[in-house]
Amino acid sequence: MKKYFIPFCLLASIIMSCSKDEYIDVLTGDEQEIANQETNDADDVTSENLELNDANLILPSTPFNYANIAIPNFFLDNDVQQEDNTPNNNPITDNGATLGRVLFYDTKLSLNNTISCASCHIQENGFSDPNALSTGFDGELTSRNSMGLANARFYENGRFFWDERAATLETQTLIPIQDLVEMGMTLEDLEIKLAQEDYYSTLFTNAFGNATVTSERIALALSQFIRSMVSFESKFDEGLAQTNINNDFPNFTASENRGKDLFMSNQTRCFDCHATNVFVGDAARNNGLDATITDPGVGGITGNNNDLGEFKVPSLRNIALTAPYMHDGRFATLAEVIEHYDNGVQNNPNLDNRLTQGNNVRRLNLSNADKQALVDFLNTLTDEAFITDEKYSDPFLE
Ligand code: HEC
Ligand code: HEC
Repeated sequence: MKKYFIPFCLLASIIMSCSKDEYIDVLTGDEQEIANQETNDADDVTSENLELNDANLILPSTPFNYANIAIPNFFLDNDVQQEDNTPNNNPITDNGATLGRVLFYDTKLSLNNTISCASCHIQENGFSDPNALSTGFDGELTSRNSMGLANARFYENGRFFWDERAATLETQTLIPIQDLVEMGMTLEDLEIKLAQEDYYSTLFTNAFGNATVTSERIALALSQFIRSMVSFESKFDEGLAQTNINNDFPNFTASENRGKDLFMSNQTRCFDCHATNVFVGDAARNNGLDATITDPGVGGITGNNNDLGEFKVPSLRNIALTAPYMHDGRFATLAEVIEHYDNGVQNNPNLDNRLTQGNNVRRLNLSNADKQALVDFLNTLTDEAFITDEKYSDPFLE
């Protein structure tokens, strides 16, 4: 076996540059410089993993599978595969995502040890927050609604936050830690704090080959965990597995099928903005929430008036679980969202032309049955397996 290893590695390197064994740090800032670290085999989980010894932390002796999730082809069709924003220098590994999971649920990431990422991104709520605004470490409220994280990996332009101010997920993950409302830490203090925990020595070693805690590694591991959150087992997926998206789904009720048709129709044009099997946008847009812009959105970042009031078009996967809706959580229910698109869209200079007719706002004039059908269809995007999967759950006992 041994003598085949080198030729195999050579062959594999042509295909995938033996990337599993290369640990690469992404440096902070939008410029992602790449630093190749020593090749090592810390990811060889079967033989080399250090054992974790912490009574408060429950992890499987062999890590969960995050790196090679069997995402079905029917899910990846219809352009989803092209939307994957995983960078070449941060592929998901089982040990990296395991570290990411622990970091995600660890209140030590906040100044006073009260708040973790999961305080505002709750699994049973599709990794969002049932409150319109979330409460940070010091009791203050965030300025926007928390975002669901399912399928965050499938967003081609790779930008994060409602106003798309983070150019990559690796950049995004360090921002809440330093946010003065959310977690209130400095990266320097965080590195010192985490390095004092034995369980992080073990987890960083398993993920990156040695115990050194750096904010770059924290960003890489959190990003791996979030990108591993792929939701593909909803009722919609069960239907899609059986037929083409344009056909009636055999497992759907008549109303759910009607809702699917409406969603994909020229009448509503929902599918023109919430596109592909992930129902996600390709760029930020203005969907007419306000006649007078209150939150500048992307325009506040770019300084361009044409971007004012534009926001990321989020994936609608698990949307029934992530209420309230929109960047400020203004709508409590999906029925209210449908009312908005039916008759509530506000004209403003940046309103997307999919929602206009000539110089006017387009009104959908949906019947009550059709409004209900749209809600019924959106409810089929809920994935119970995803929101109860242990590998995305809280590993701390408490
Ligand atoms: C106090 C609440 C809070 C905490 C803690 C928090 N978040 Fe968030 N998160 C939010 C809010 C609110 C937004 C939307 C903010 C915005 O767009 O301006 C958000 C947005 C995000 C997004 C963007 C999703 C997208 O599709 O663009 C990601 C990813 C994310 N958070 C991950 C994390 C991670 C990782 C942590 C922990 C290191 C974390 N969050 C901690 C409230 C929180
Ligand atoms: C012009 C593009 C566009 C069209 C067409 C469109 N949307 Fe949206 N949608 C958006 C944007 C942008 C947001 C986020 C807006 C914000 O929060 O400021 C959004 C948000 C949503 C949300 C809330 C998401 C969340 O996580 O809070 C739902 C639900 C939704 N849309 C459903 C629909 C349905 C159903 C239709 C068709 C009736 C539709 N959309 C048509 C662009 C669009």
